[in-house]
Amino acid sequence: MLRMAGGVSTAGGLDLFEEIDRLREELGAVILAHYYQEPEIQDIADFVGDSLQLARQAQRTDAGVIVFCGVHFMAETAKILNPDRTVVLPDLEAGCSLADSCPADDFAAFLDRHLGHVVVSYVNTSAAVKALSDVICTSSNAERVIASIPEDSPIVFAPDRHLGRYLMEKTGREMVLWPGSCMVHVRFSEKKIRQLKIRHPDAEVLAHPECEAAVLELADHIGSTSSLLRRAVESPARRFIVATEPGIIHQMKKAAPGKEFIRAPGRGPEGSCEACSECPHMRRNTLEKLYRCMRDLEPEITLDEDLRLRALRPIERMLELG
Ligand code: 13P
Ligand code: SF4
Repeated sequence: MLRMAGGVSTAGGLDLFEEIDRLREELGAVILAHYYQEPEIQDIADFVGDSLQLARQAQRTDAGVIVFCGVHFMAETAKILNPDRTVVLPDLEAGCSLADSCPADDFAAFLDRHLGHVVVSYVNTSAAVKALSDVICTSSNAERVIASIPEDSPIVFAPDRHLGRYLMEKTGREMVLWPGSCMVHVRFSEKKIRQLKIRHPDAEVLAHPECEAAVLELADHIGSTSSLLRRAVESPARRFIVATEPGIIHQMKKAAPGKEFIRAPGRGPEGSCEACSECPHMRRNTLEKLYRCMRDLEPEITLDEDLRLRALRPIERMLELG
């Protein structure tokens, strides 16, 4: 496993890498991390991936303890798939603005106004919203999920309206969209990316489909985090402007050494902080919190069994689609 040079210590002087390794062994735990986690968390994880890959790993693992370094809906999905395993998350407050933009009660009322629609929900939702859905998707498989729905069935898509609009364009299907968005991806500035492209005409723009349409129009490649990573490796370009959470750049640099990755600028004033495009929820997890959650086996994800079973059905439907 490749790690950043130098150990990271707690105030008590413990080497966190060593302690996490020891606990992983003792607990028979697997550490799963999303690409948006801090580099040192990605480096110590057993598996780093996008939301679909992480859901699949959670489905496949035989580890008794799943340590989920990501946000709450991701760890909750792992628990829905593994009711008998202990699932811990370094910081229980690591939420998601997109999932929060779709409260289950409001969504149920919305669905009452769209009876007869097939309900496709993005994985970035609470278990309660998943339980109201027919099928779940991620940005990796959304087109395939939509293609599996009969042509004459009307569709509700929730909660990201930008991803929804992009999917309507890609699939040619009309969908009723829930008006949610991600606080990180709507912050990228079309104007500043345009200026950056003038300064670096050789650079490819890589963008996540949660970005606004004006940003996606500037993109050379649009896709999930794993798709953007693949493009960075396979493209003949040597320079990239990356319009997604910059945690992914850690893997891009490892997989494509020698290439240059520039964070897409946000709307803030010129020279405003680099951290503005970091997801504040993802970044709540730290190496020290990871160590503590393994030491204490908390915070733990727990779920009402009836809710779990209702949320499981649409997730399984997604996973069955391959
Ligand atoms: P991916 O499924 O592409 O990893 O995206 C997850 C996410 O939270 C995007 O903001
Ligand atoms: Fe949620 Fe956006 Fe953070 Fe992804 S980047 S976890 S969609 S707030």
